[in-house]
Amino acid sequence: MLSSEDQHALLNWYDQHQRDLPWRHTRNPWHILLSEILLQQTQVSRGLVYWTRMVEAFPTVVSMAKAPVDAVLKAWEGAGYYSRARRLHALSQRVMLPSHEGGFDGELPSTYDELLSLPGIGPYTAAAVASIAFGQPVACVDGNIRRVMARTTAQLEPSASAVQAWANGVLVGERAGDWNQALMELGATVCTPKRVKCEVCPISRGCAGKDEPEAYPLPKRQRVKEVVLTAWVELAQDGTLVLTQRPMNGLFAGLWGPIYRDGVAVPDSDHVHCGTVKHALSHRKMTVHVVLLAGRNEPLGVDVNEVAISTLDEKVIALANEHAQASE
Ligand code: ADE
Repeated sequence: MLSSEDQHALLNWYDQHQRDLPWRHTRNPWHILLSEILLQQTQVSRGLVYWTRMVEAFPTVVSMAKAPVDAVLKAWEGAGYYSRARRLHALSQRVMLPSHEGGFDGELPSTYDELLSLPGIGPYTAAAVASIAFGQPVACVDGNIRRVMARTTAQLEPSASAVQAWANGVLVGERAGDWNQALMELGATVCTPKRVKCEVCPISRGCAGKDEPEAYPLPKRQRVKEVVLTAWVELAQDGTLVLTQRPMNGLFAGLWGPIYRDGVAVPDSDHVHCGTVKHALSHRKMTVHVVLLAGRNEPLGVDVNEVAISTLDEKVIALANEHAQASE
C-alpha cells in the first residue's frame, strides 16, 4: 500500500510534470471517453492524432449517432481495432435512446455502472471516464497501473483482483481522476517496462521493488500466431481496384479491401505475383502474398479515399497499384 505521504507526493509530481495533452484541458465527457478508448490501444503520440481527428469529425455524441457507421470507420482509419469504432457508434446510438428504451436521453451517463452498461465500455474505460470526466471515486486499472503495483509491492504475477484491490485501497477519492491519471502517467513516463527512472520517482522511498524494478512484474506470455494469406486484387477498367466491404464480424470487419484467401496463392497465367506484405497485429504476424488480376473484367473499382481501409490493405493496394501501373 502507499502511505499518505506517497499519495501527496505522487499528486504533486503529477501537478508539476504531467504531459500537456488536450483531453486534460476539457471536462467534456464525450471527448474524454474518446481519448480513453483510443489510449487503450495506442501510445499517446499516435492517440493524439486519432483523438483530434475523431473530435473534429464527431464533436458530440449526437453527431456520431446520426452518422453512418462507415463514416466512423473512415475517421478511425489507421487506428486499428476497428471493432472498437463500430462499438463506439453503437454506444452513441444507445446514449441517444430515451431512458424508457434503455438509453440516456442524449447525455453520457456519469456513473461507473451506467457507463459499463454501454457497448464497448469495459471496467477500465468505465472507471477512467467516471473518475476523469465526472469526479466519481472509482479506481481504474490498466497495464501501467498493474506495473506500478507489482513493483511497489514486489509481486511477480499479481492477479487482476489483487491489482484492483490495491488500486481501490490507494485511491485518493477527492481527486480520483487526477489520481488515476497520475498512476498511469507514472507508469508511462517513469516506472516504464525498461530503463526505469527510479531516481525521479516521487514514490520510490517506500517502493519494495526499487532494487530490481525490471524483475517486476513477470512479462506476460504473448501468443503470436503466424498467418499466411493471399490477397487477390482485381484491376477494374477505370484503373481503380475492385474492393469489397468485409462482413461486420471477423478481422477488419466493415472495412474495404481485396479478397483474402488462406495460404499461398498459385497464380494462373492471368495473375501477376506482386510480392508480399508483412504486417503485425497484437496477436498475429501476417504475411500476405499479393496477386493482381489485370484482366479488367469489371468496369468500375472503388475510390480508396471514399471508404475505410485497414493499414494492411493500404500496403497491399499500394503494391498492387505499382504493378498495375508498370503493366500499362
Ligand atoms: N493511459 C490511458 N489513459 C490515460 C490518461 N488519461 N493519462 C495517462 N495515461 C493514460
